[in-house]
Amino acid sequence: MINLDNYSSIFIANWKLNGNYSFLKEYYEKLKVNSNNCTIICSSSIYLQSLKGNNKNLFCGAQDVSLFKEGAYTGELSASMLRDNNIDFCLVGHSERRQYFAETNNNVKTKSLNLIEENIIPVICIGETLEQKENNLTEEILFTQIKESIPNSATHQNALIAYEPVWAIGTGLTPTLDEINQVHELIKNFDQKFINYKVLYGGSVKSSNSKEITELTHVDGCLIGGASLKVDEFNTIIS
Ligand code: 13P
Repeated sequence: MINLDNYSSIFIANWKLNGNYSFLKEYYEKLKVNSNNCTIICSSSIYLQSLKGNNKNLFCGAQDVSLFKEGAYTGELSASMLRDNNIDFCLVGHSERRQYFAETNNNVKTKSLNLIEENIIPVICIGETLEQKENNLTEEILFTQIKESIPNSATHQNALIAYEPVWAIGTGLTPTLDEINQVHELIKNFDQKFINYKVLYGGSVKSSNSKEITELTHVDGCLIGGASLKVDEFNTIIS
């Protein structure tokens, strides 16, 4: 398993349902990976094999995994299949999966457990909606998501947490820097065992705000959607 302690920051590109072979080729020709950071590209699973390169600081991740280990589940991709393909990371519980595919905290927990068993690092995504934020429910929602989504076998060495406020995803809106730092501190202090977790921020990260976000004391990197599709923009973010 990758030693997360080796890296000062972690940057994850979440390409979502975007990309094709020519996009990938051009992206890789221009991508400049920084050796201090761990950079992870999460493409659609069908492209993951072509993404694997020789750069030791560049990793690839899946965007989802099956709840099931094997069996009659047409269309699914298991954690052991990801391991078989040398995939080291996998997003779980992204708000788009929770929203459009009815993924529950319990599903996220099972998926994370299956991934950890296969030595794949789950990137466990949590975050509140705008309505929840406006009703001052952020803390409660995040605590429930953490309690119910993170399996007991998770540690700061085999799992990552990504805080992505749902209202900040793809909107150009972000919490203030103070808010981001406070929420990350809250997550790490929720229980003693989370103190050393690396917690990434996601939601409208771009080259113009990534530096100040990454420099926050309780932020250990970023999960980037739209801006990660533009390689020049992503190069600036990870530089
Ligand atoms: P944007 O960076 O496009 O807001 O998306 C964030 C995200 O969902 C990353 O997982």
